[in-house]
Amino acid sequence: MTNTLVLVFHPDLKGQSHVNAALAKAAEETPGVTVRDEYALYPDGKIDVAAEQAAVDAADRVVLQFPLYWLSSPALLKTWEDEVLEHGWAYGSDGHAFEGTEFGVAVSAGSPEEAYQPDGANKFTIDQILVPFEATSNYVGATWIKPFVTYGAFGLSDEALAESVEHYRKFLAK
Ligand SMILES: Cc1cc2nc3c(=O)[nH]c(=O)nc-3n(C[C@H](O)[C@H](O)[C@H](O)COP(=O)(O)O)c2cc1C
Repeated sequence: MTNTLVLVFHPDLKGQSHVNAALAKAAEETPGVTVRDEYALYPDGKIDVAAEQAAVDAADRVVLQFPLYWLSSPALLKTWEDEVLEHGWAYGSDGHAFEGTEFGVAVSAGSPEEAYQPDGANKFTIDQILVPFEATSNYVGATWIKPFVTYGAFGLSDEALAESVEHYRKFLAK
């Protein structure tokens, strides 16, 4: 069984979150999956780099789960990248932490899928918007997996959320 680490970056997972809370719960229920609620672990933004690196070292697959904020991630994920992806661990001649590791993202977007088209409101596809994460995966020598996306998170119906949760279970169980 693949040992999957899901790092959730939502500022209020246990409060305001609708979509990511449901996805994180499904992840927790999936065998072989470990979930870390990063904002709950580090409410002051001070990341325990050794603990994060140990969690990645123990995984065969790392999934960054977050709501899309300004066509990117919530701020703590950027801090996580800046501090955890150290030279000599993640990259550089001695940095092999992600070799043989699958790496991907699970994002929720308030806008519908139509907005993420060349002729839609955002003018770019979600794959284009997520290129910095794919390029980071390449940079650290991981194997990029196709993003898991929940569109239309604003006012998502219970049925649509349940469908996304079922797809997420399958995505993580692969
Ligand atoms: C600060 C902020 C920025 C956001 N930026 C975007 C955005 O660029 N594109 C988009 O589709 N949704 C955007 N949203 C909507 C969130 O992605 C959406 O509320 C979230 O995915 C819902 O997940 P949740 O129920 O777990 O909070 C933004 C929301 C906030 C609070």
